Amino acid sequence: MTNEAIPDLPEFNDSALDKAFAALERRATDDAAALPSPEAVEAFRLRWLGRKQGLLSEVSSRWLKAAPPEAKKPVGERFKTLKELVERLLDQAAGAGPTDAALAAEAIDITLPGTRRLTGAEHPITRTLNEITQVFAALGYSVGVGPEVETDYYNFESMNFPPGHPARDTQDTLVVANQERRPLRDRLLLRTHTSPVQMRTMEQQPPPVRIVIPGKVHRNDAADATHSPIFHQVEGLCVDTNITFSDLKGTLDHAMKALFGSSVKTRFFPSFFPFTEPSADVQISCIFCGGNGCRKCKQSGWIELLGCGMVDPAVFAFAALKQPAYDPRKISGFAFGMGVERIAMMKYGISEIGQFYAGDMRFLGQFA
Ligand code: PHE
Repeated sequence: MTNEAIPDLPEFNDSALDKAFAALERRATDDAAALPSPEAVEAFRLRWLGRKQGLLSEVSSRWLKAAPPEAKKPVGERFKTLKELVERLLDQAAGAGPTDAALAAEAIDITLPGTRRLTGAEHPITRTLNEITQVFAALGYSVGVGPEVETDYYNFESMNFPPGHPARDTQDTLVVANQERRPLRDRLLLRTHTSPVQMRTMEQQPPPVRIVIPGKVHRNDAADATHSPIFHQVEGLCVDTNITFSDLKGTLDHAMKALFGSSVKTRFFPSFFPFTEPSADVQISCIFCGGNGCRKCKQSGWIELLGCGMVDPAVFAFAALKQPAYDPRKISGFAFGMGVERIAMMKYGISEIGQFYAGDMRFLGQFA
């Protein structure tokens, strides 16, 4: 359509020029009316404004250069007008906005409700875990972690559960399959407590040690309102010269007051763990009734919350295999372990442990 060459001009008088240029202006306007794509726009530009073969350069050489001297000016003026038109058409085509249909599709209906962006929030378990670690961080404890898939050695043997010892039965261990060809100490299992990280920490650094270890643990427990096969613990370990049971009591009494309020009391009952001697269970005065007795504390006024004790010399002996400074004649220490879910349930008045893992936004949203 537009590829016809520019004809030579037979005459250079005003009316002949007007007619010739008007024809070209129509041609350019028609040509620019149907440019559906950026490629078509570019083709239009080349066709009209191309340096060598563009129609305007042809007009320039055939009409402007060929014009007799007295016609140069009128041809030049008309040529300029034509060029401006072509450039304007090109600008319009290149900058053309979206079509009416595209605009309609993007239009916003301001009567619709907006899209609500949900604010993220810490999971109550994560929050409780952080609260506990922060209480101990304020006492100068560092924070450590260890693997959830653990060896028999770290989970049991080095924590003074010898092979075949009945204390292992209390741990409802989930073991990794097909490990029978390995020596017992190297067999893998899902750690049943965070205590193996006590040993991993001591193997890495000589005393003094003050560390808390938050983490996930696994036990082959049937799920019910207060038990879940996966739960969380925070372990604590303090080793130095002259650490006594009084230090243990003072530290945990402070921690319970920091977590549950300064009016909370603690008491320590004899207990047993293979890796601590003596061992104790810690109870706090019931935070629901203030110790008067209610349904939550089974009328006793006390709630059992964690296990603790002085590190057993047998455990130090295992640590001393890698770090001789753990000589039980020279150093002593205490350890404790608490269940995070249990503490979170008490702090937030939650009665079903399963709520933590169900992913129900109505439950989780309450902690936002
Ligand atoms: N690991 C023990 C448990 O899971 C808790 C504990 C930790 C007890 C440290 C004493 C010292 O029950």
